[in-house]
Amino acid sequence: MKIALGSDHAGFELKEKIKKFLAEAGHEPLDLGCFSPESVDYPVYGVKVAKSVLSGEAERGILVCGTGLGMSMVANRFSGIRAALCHEPFSARMSRLHNDANILALGGRIIGDVLAFEIVKVFLETPFEGGRHARRVKQIDSLTKEA
Ligand code: RB5
Repeated sequence: MKIALGSDHAGFELKEKIKKFLAEAGHEPLDLGCFSPESVDYPVYGVKVAKSVLSGEAERGILVCGTGLGMSMVANRFSGIRAALCHEPFSARMSRLHNDANILALGGRIIGDVLAFEIVKVFLETPFEGGRHARRVKQIDSLTKEA
């Protein structure tokens, strides 16, 4: 699966490790930056990944900042993006089953590599359940359009 990756300086180290983990698992990581641990602004990279997923260039996205909060806030401004901030596998699983999440946000200053890899794996391997959840997912955009 082609997966767009983005981080700021606080998520850089974990983003690099996730990139390697994805490549070793047979996925195609698309690294949209940042490219060093020098201080940068997270919205720049959140926007790049959100646009990549919306355009279909990447099937899913993974965003890492210090807490994952800023990245998820940025990505969720885009209609059609459903970014899930997850620090344990249960939320990652449910974000796919019930919310059809297309971006995973992580906090590089919160979790360690091994837990992050497990969350990424669950996020990529869990299908959307559809059914009543498809109706609700559609409502995320339709009911908030005029808000
Ligand atoms: C950077 O210091 C930090 O604010 C950023 O990585 C992120 O945690 C914002 O939500």
